[in-house]
Amino acid sequence: MYSSLSHFISALESAGELLRIKLPVATELQMTELADREMKSPGGGKALLFEKPTINGKVSRFPVLLNALGSRRRMAMALGLSSVEELASQLEFLLKAKPPQSLRDGLQLLRQGMDLRHARPRLVKKAPCHEVVHLLKEQKDFSLEDLPILQCWPKDGGRFITLPTVYTKDPDTGMRNVGMYRMQVYDGCTTGMHWQIHKVGARHGKRYYERGEPMPVAVALGGDPIFPFAAMAPLPDGIDEILFAGFARKRSVDLVQCLTVPLEVPAESDFVLEGFVYPHEKRLEGPFGDHTGFYTPPDEYPVFHITAITHRREAIYPATIVGIPPMEDFYMGEASLRIFLPIFKVNFPEIVDIALPPEGVFHNLVFVSIRKQYPWQAFKIMHGLWGMGQMMFSKYIIVVDEDCDIQNTSEVLFRLCANTDPQRDSIVTKNPSDSLDHAPTLPNIGSHMGFDATRKLPGEGYTRGWPDLIKMDPAVKEWADGFLKCRDNFCH
Ligand SMILES: Cc1cc2nc3c(=O)[nH]c(=O)nc-3n(C[C@H](O)[C@H](O)[C@H](O)COP(=O)(O)O)c2cc1C
Repeated sequence: MYSSLSHFISALESAGELLRIKLPVATELQMTELADREMKSPGGGKALLFEKPTINGKVSRFPVLLNALGSRRRMAMALGLSSVEELASQLEFLLKAKPPQSLRDGLQLLRQGMDLRHARPRLVKKAPCHEVVHLLKEQKDFSLEDLPILQCWPKDGGRFITLPTVYTKDPDTGMRNVGMYRMQVYDGCTTGMHWQIHKVGARHGKRYYERGEPMPVAVALGGDPIFPFAAMAPLPDGIDEILFAGFARKRSVDLVQCLTVPLEVPAESDFVLEGFVYPHEKRLEGPFGDHTGFYTPPDEYPVFHITAITHRREAIYPATIVGIPPMEDFYMGEASLRIFLPIFKVNFPEIVDIALPPEGVFHNLVFVSIRKQYPWQAFKIMHGLWGMGQMMFSKYIIVVDEDCDIQNTSEVLFRLCANTDPQRDSIVTKNPSDSLDHAPTLPNIGSHMGFDATRKLPGEGYTRGWPDLIKMDPAVKEWADGFLKCRDNFCH
């Protein structure tokens, strides 16, 4: 959709979605404070382009872009859509595709086929991301210290690259993965690699360590905003994020061979960091002010040794900040949930909607509405979600009936409080936990709780006759709508 990050920035500016900050602002804390206020303003505020970021008081030659995806409108713009539901319905159509019954069906299927054709990337020889090349072994005049990398929060362990797309390959199958894992800067050519134990990058790493081979890694920053979105989206292990990006933007991704590692990255990236992670080398990473709203304590993570940094001549450094919600990542998570809802529905056709309210920071709180048909179906949904990809981390799942608007948190809390007998309607189970969750006694594992807040059916042990929810007669509601439209004539 966008040929570069600067192309996306122009689109944001034309849509009135961008603020340019022309005065110098420090990459140490100051940028976070401004971005945090913007992200917490109604609807997510605007994208911020800092034209004169400073690093230790010196103005950097690379502008910094923050909050680019931090609203529903910008998230849809990043995907080239007017709303993310469009992509969801395209995916749904593909999942449900049957032989066409009419010319209209046939044409639509053909169009989807054309879109799929774009999923395949193309390998190109010349790339904007190679306009400037720094081979770190030979050149000592450029390093990570020249990039405007943020120190986000006062107690952070240092500067962190916060919007990296990390490219690795499975050494056994050659399958690519792109994940978003933050990177703490240790020095000009070394960073941490914070792939958590459950993530695909960590699985690839484990295989390299078992084989005793250095692991090639490439990190791309910038380019089409579809790339960070695809990297953070919870695609199943083995589904190539680049295929998804090509399908979603309806244009094949141009990939270019890296210069010092056997990996390919999007040719249009603004920056590319190439290098290796070595077997069994770990180093303390953190603390870091995290999505949870708390500092995650230091922990041992792999180390990334950079061999080359390449970039566009006019590169823009993209970043985000995480912290007490809501932040930019809420909109990214929400879009990915809306887009992948059809896949949940294929597995669980009774699901009407799923919501991850911002207070729950992705996995801590999940609301699900279902069309309930049989006893204990709510528990089946909980178990299903706890067994599905990153939904395994869901700490609290609340299941309600289909007539509850789960996008409205207070409506869900009303159902929870009114419809549950805590002992009868809750379940506590054991599952892997999000590595960032500081509450479980041990890292990465913990208890998870589900509440069945649906009305009880015969066979669920409730014998008192479930009461009706109070609802006004639809005809009276319609009358009241009309009445209130001209209220000024009647009411004083
Ligand atoms: C801004 C942002 C930062 C993230 N940082 C990390 C991180 O440091 N480590 C991690 O394991 N996951 C992190 N995630 C979540 C992963 O990107 C997400 O779970 C993704 O689906 C992982 O991809 P994978 O399944 O291919 O490993 C982050 C997500 C966002 C939006």
